[in-house]
Amino acid sequence: MDAILVRGGNALNGQIPIAGAKNACLTLMPATLLSEEPLTLTNAPRLSDIRTMTQLLQSLGAEVTSLQEGRVIAMSCHGAINTRADYDIVRKMRASNLVLGPLLAREGHAEVSLPGGCAIGARPMDIHTDGLAKMGAQIDLRDGYLYAKAAGGRLKGAVIDFPFASVGATENIMMAATLAKGTTVINNAAREPEIVDLADCLRRMGAQIDGDGTATITVQGVDRLGAATHPVVADRIELGTYMLAPAICGGEVELLGGRINLIGAFCEKLDAAGIDVTQTDRGLKVKCRGARANAVDVTTEPFPGFPTDLQAQMMALLCTADGTSVLEETIFENRFMHAPELIRMGASIEVHGGRATVQGVERLKGAPVMATDLRASVSLILAGLAAEGETKVSRVYHLDRGYEHVVAKLSGVGADIERIKDQ
Ligand code: UD1
Repeated sequence: MDAILVRGGNALNGQIPIAGAKNACLTLMPATLLSEEPLTLTNAPRLSDIRTMTQLLQSLGAEVTSLQEGRVIAMSCHGAINTRADYDIVRKMRASNLVLGPLLAREGHAEVSLPGGCAIGARPMDIHTDGLAKMGAQIDLRDGYLYAKAAGGRLKGAVIDFPFASVGATENIMMAATLAKGTTVINNAAREPEIVDLADCLRRMGAQIDGDGTATITVQGVDRLGAATHPVVADRIELGTYMLAPAICGGEVELLGGRINLIGAFCEKLDAAGIDVTQTDRGLKVKCRGARANAVDVTTEPFPGFPTDLQAQMMALLCTADGTSVLEETIFENRFMHAPELIRMGASIEVHGGRATVQGVERLKGAPVMATDLRASVSLILAGLAAEGETKVSRVYHLDRGYEHVVAKLSGVGADIERIKDQ
C-alpha cells in the first residue's frame, strides 16, 4: 500500500489548477439514467470514486467511456437496463445511492442496496425515501436492499418538506422529479453549488427546474429528457484545501479556476484568521498576512455556511494559529478522527462530542500518522507541510477517492512531498 511522505518547512509559491468537483460529478453521472440519449461531462476529475460510479452505471447497463485521460466522460443509456444496484459496489461509496431516484423515474422500480454507515457517521437515507414515498413510491427494506416501486409505474409530483437540507436527498428527488407526472416542490432543499450544477445539466437535457440555489426547488415533470454536454463545476473542497496550504506554510499561491462565490463563508473565516484572499481573473490568490494565522471559531453548516468537508483541513491550520479556536461539527456526529493523529504531531486539541477546542502551538512535529477518511487524510498532509521534520501519511487510498495528483500539485508550488511504497 502507498503512503505520502512530507518534509515540512517550505514556503509555497506558484499556481495550482483546481479540478472539476468530485461531488458534482458523482451526481451528474447517474443523470444519464434519465435519458435514452448521450450525456457527456467535461472537466471531470480523475478519481477512484469516479471509477466506482463508472462501474456501478456499467453494471446497470449504461455505456460509460472515459476520454481525454479521464477529463471527459461520455455516457449513454438506451434500451433495457438493470434496476438492481448491488451491495458489492454500493458499499464502496455512499454516493451510489444517487442512482435510486433516476432508476425509479425511468423504470418505475429499483432495487438499491443500502450503503451502510461510514467512518464519519451513521448516514441514514430516510429523507430520500420519505420524499420518494410522497411521490407515490412504495419502499420496502428487505435483505439490506431498498425495494422501490412507483404506483402505476410512474412517480407523480408532490410537495416535499425536508426536515434537514440533505444534499443527496435534494439531488435524488430533483432527478426523480424531472420525469414525474406533474409538479414537485422541494422545501428546505440543499443549496450547495453541486445542486445548481446538477440543475444546470438537467436543464440542458430538457428538464424544467426553478429555484435551485434557494431553499425551494420546483420541478415540472416532462415525458422525456434528451442529450447534453455539460462541464463539471470547479471543486470548492479541493479549492479550499489548497487555499489552506499557503495559509499554513507561508508564501503566495493562486488557485486556478477558483471563485469566491463557491466558498464565501470559508473565505470570511480565512480573513478573520489573517489570510488574504483575492479574486483574480484566473482564480483566487491566497497569502498569509503575518508569520502565523490567528485563532478563529468555526461551526460547520449546510451551504452557504462553512462546509463540513473543509473542517479537518481548517483544523490543521488552527493547530499552529495564535490563540484558542473552537470548531463545532453540526453535520456529522463522528468527524474528528483526524484530531488524535494531529495530536501525535504535537497539536493541542480536546474533543467533547461535536466540539473540538484547539490551542495553537508554535510548530507541529512530523510523525507517522494514519488517514481515517478522505478529508482527514488531506488535513494530515497539510499539517505535515508545516511541521518540523518528516510526516508519513498511511492509508492513502482514502486520498485517491477525492484528490487527483496531490503530489504533483503540491510539489509544483514548492512542497517537499512524495508518494512511496509502504510495507
Ligand atoms: C454530501 C457530500 C459530502 C458532504 C455532505 C454534507 C456527496 C457525494 N457527498 O453527502 O461530501 O460531506 O453532503 O455537505 O455529495 N441525513 C439523514 N437522512 C438522510 C440523509 C442525510 O439523517 O436521508 C443526515 C446525514 O446522516 C448527515 C446529514 O444529514 O448527518 C447530511 O447529509 P447529506 O447532506 O445528505 O450528505 P450527503 O448527500 O450524504
